Amino acid sequence: MDSIGSVGLRQREGAPGCSQEGLPCPSDSSELVLECLQQFKVTKTQLRQIQASLLGSMEQALGGQASPASAVRMLPTYVGSTPHGTEQGDFVVLELGATGASLRVLWVTLVGIEGHRMEPRSQEFVIPPEVMLGPGQQLFDFAAHCLSEFLDALPVDKEGLQLGFSFSFPCHQTGLDRSTLISWTKGFRCSGVEGHDVVQLLRDAIKRQGAYSIDVVAVVNDTVGTMMGCEPGVGPCEVGLVVDTGTNACYMEEARHVAVLDEDRGRVCVSVEWGSFSDDGVLGPVLTTFDHALDRESLNPGAQRFEKMIGGLYLGELVRLVLAHLAQRGVLFGGCTSPALLSHGSILLEHVAEMKDPLAGAARVHAILRDLGLSVGASDAELVQYVCAAVFTRAARLCAAALAAVLARLQHSREQQVLQIAVATGGRVFERHPSFLSILQETVMLLAPECDVSFIPSVDGGGQGVAMVTAVAARLAAHRRLLEETLAPFRLDHEQLAAVRAQMREAMVKGLQGEASSLRMLPTYVRATPDGTERGDFLALDLGGTNFRVLLVRVTAGGVKITSQVYSIPEYVAQGSGQQLFDHIVDCIVDFQQKQGLSGQSLPLGFTFSFPCRQLGLDQGILLNWTKGFNASDCEGQDVVCLLREAIRRRQAVELNVVAIVNDTVGTMMSCGYEDPRCEVGLIVGTGTNACYMEELQNVATVPGDSGHMCINMEWGAFGDDGSLDLLRTCFDANVDQASINPGKQSFEKMISGMYLGEIVRHILLHLTSLGVLFRGQQTQRLQTRDIFKTKFLSEIESDSLALRQVRAILEDLGLSLTSDDALMVLEVCQAVSQRAAQLCGAGVAAVVEKIRENRGLEELTVSVGVDGTLYKLHPHFSSLVAATVRELAPRCVVTFLQSEDGSGKGAALVTAVACRLAQMARV
Ligand code: BG6
Ligand code: GLC
Ligand code: GLC
Repeated sequence: MDSIGSVGLRQREGAPGCSQEGLPCPSDSSELVLECLQQFKVTKTQLRQIQASLLGSMEQALGGQASPASAVRMLPTYVGSTPHGTEQGDFVVLELGATGASLRVLWVTLVGIEGHRMEPRSQEFVIPPEVMLGPGQQLFDFAAHCLSEFLDALPVDKEGLQLGFSFSFPCHQTGLDRSTLISWTKGFRCSGVEGHDVVQLLRDAIKRQGAYSIDVVAVVNDTVGTMMGCEPGVGPCEVGLVVDTGTNACYMEEARHVAVLDEDRGRVCVSVEWGSFSDDGVLGPVLTTFDHALDRESLNPGAQRFEKMIGGLYLGELVRLVLAHLAQRGVLFGGCTSPALLSHGSILLEHVAEMKDPLAGAARVHAILRDLGLSVGASDAELVQYVCAAVFTRAARLCAAALAAVLARLQHSREQQVLQIAVATGGRVFERHPSFLSILQETVMLLAPECDVSFIPSVDGGGQGVAMVTAVAARLAAHRRLLEETLAPFRLDHEQLAAVRAQMREAMVKGLQGEASSLRMLPTYVRATPDGTERGDFLALDLGGTNFRVLLVRVTAGGVKITSQVYSIPEYVAQGSGQQLFDHIVDCIVDFQQKQGLSGQSLPLGFTFSFPCRQLGLDQGILLNWTKGFNASDCEGQDVVCLLREAIRRRQAVELNVVAIVNDTVGTMMSCGYEDPRCEVGLIVGTGTNACYMEELQNVATVPGDSGHMCINMEWGAFGDDGSLDLLRTCFDANVDQASINPGKQSFEKMISGMYLGEIVRHILLHLTSLGVLFRGQQTQRLQTRDIFKTKFLSEIESDSLALRQVRAILEDLGLSLTSDDALMVLEVCQAVSQRAAQLCGAGVAAVVEKIRENRGLEELTVSVGVDGTLYKLHPHFSSLVAATVRELAPRCVVTFLQSEDGSGKGAALVTAVACRLAQMARV
């Protein structure tokens, strides 16, 4: 080393910015520099420790353990597969945050597998510093402005443009187009953005700008764009690594390992966000005094400690701090600093890379330093080169340790001894400074010798990858629109429901007056709910729901005791001859009596018969028509009690005393009424649906008498059979109706009850499949089979405790192979169908309770509704939706819903008991 440095030094003694201390001679200088640079050395052991600690941090975050701000974040990105290469179309890409203070807009054309790659058009815009630190709205307005400036120069339509937003900051994504900024990193700090959906902010700004109609379809991190845009080589790229202003990586993780997703299949791209890694234990010894100083002076002190040792935004700054320190110690520049050397941001990544490059030559180093206002001594250039190399090398080695952690994670999760993997690299540091990659590669080989890694540079700085994700997102968004369009007619608003209530009310009045109405409003000859004095042993039959039951009901002062047995009614019997059906019923009774030791006794019998009957007394019921799955011949128009008595006669061996025939709604009301005297409505939502309630006798034109009450079986399942519900009926309802055994009948029931909801869902699923929205457009034989989709599936699928994967298991049992998007859509279909059912049912109940209130001239009515039926009881949300609708549509009624625990059989026995009591009183 020559003495120019010390000459210069002497000349400048006392000048501002120069060290006044006793100054070392040049040979000491290099030693002092090397000593200082020792701090930047990271040993192999330290690298291994960093790798291990980072891996631990990644695994903790994947497992869903609350991660402190100092840990990596492991953010799922909603990108589920690497590109197929089939994606096509034109896309606008907006890049914000990857490369310092600039914003890039690209026009990317994807041409699918066959086409020739087309170079994208792009333009870069410099973001003014005040915009990077100002209000968020200003930043997004600036972005929208750049977009239209870029598009103005292209021959494109102003409508229907699809945009992919590359936003390279840590975000919580909840969908491909929903992403909440967690915190700014790198040089940004705009107010009012953290905690907000950046897609929405961009959409709002584009709308404010008003020049173009642009649909923001997807948002991605730069690492994801890098990975997705990589030309697939032998295998797909499954890691995206970015070193630009900041640093980060993403990779394809097994979905089942990402706790927050609750998904058991496939892979999902996870953005590691390793910039925030900052385990004091392992990073502490590596952090230099310069790192601490840099952190203190940064926009986000304490945050992104790992990134601050690697990211391009910080390397120049670290070098500057070291050079200033050495100058102040008199080791460099003759002990003189300069205003530039002392000001933040004066040395850039480019300077570092150039100066560290031995090929650049001393002249270039001199020039850069002189530009900083420094007087450069002969030995200074070489020492500065050491400094740059030390800072740059440390960055590459730390980055390698982090990548090695990701590789170890992949190796572990894929259970592969030797991992063969392609890593897509992106960012200016890789693009412009190839030595970064060589150091990185060398170090990765050292830390992960068992991995065979190929590094592939990304295409168009990730722009192509963003366009790929946008293409997929656009397809999904189109599917979602079709799903929404399909389900829209199922979503009823307040007006529509209020209209149903009003129509129901009108039909009730007409039915009661004996005028033409789809509501038959059948008198039941039940005039009172039980008063608690009923006693005795009764037999009961319960026919028409899911189960056919025979019951022995003992009504004592201590309560009601029930013994019952379920018998099956095979379909061939339900749809065979009437005689066969009633013979079968009597056979079951005989069997029951024998088993219960009741043979030879003639107990009074109550018959729950859940079909529309015109009653002329308690023990007379003419079947008007079969409903639900029954269609036995020669029964319609006949008195069901007679049919039963005839069958008893045919069987000769038994004697039975049939006292009352009761609809299941009435049985349910009576059964609940035994516990709660306010129960004056019975509701069934099971295989079928129907309601009954206590009406003023004076309103019932078909029964003589003007005082007292009578229970009316509304047979509301047939509501709308006169066309009054046609506006609400969808093509799927029409399909279900057409395929049923009673087309044109039971319109309301077919939109509400358990026998039909599964079928409605099945028809919707078939339609969505034909549109290509579900199941990749593949129709299956199973799904085309009638009744294969049971209504109980709706209850299971909609259960809150069920994860989507269980939804999928249910559907896979049906032979449907589906993705998690499919599972979500099926869930939404089920929700739409069951919600409409519950709301229609609620509108019906509202009409009933309002009528009771008005009948009694009350300001407010307090009433209970006894309810039974598998759909109502098993579905997780049905009952609360019914109640909510009733509250909305009948605000002046306080309605309590009581679930019947013992079925309608108990109610039939109670009706029988009341009848026996009254008969006895009459005899006395
Ligand atoms: C039961 C009654 O409680 O509810 C049946 O005893 C009735 O007679 C039934 O038909 C309705 O529910 P489901 O779901 O069995 O049709
Ligand atoms: C920062 C961001 C991260 C981005 C990386 C590289 O670390 O937080 O999202 O991927 O920089 O640009
Ligand atoms: C059907 C029947 C009706 C019954 C209802 C509930 O609608 O016609 O009588 O109450 O199903 O089971």
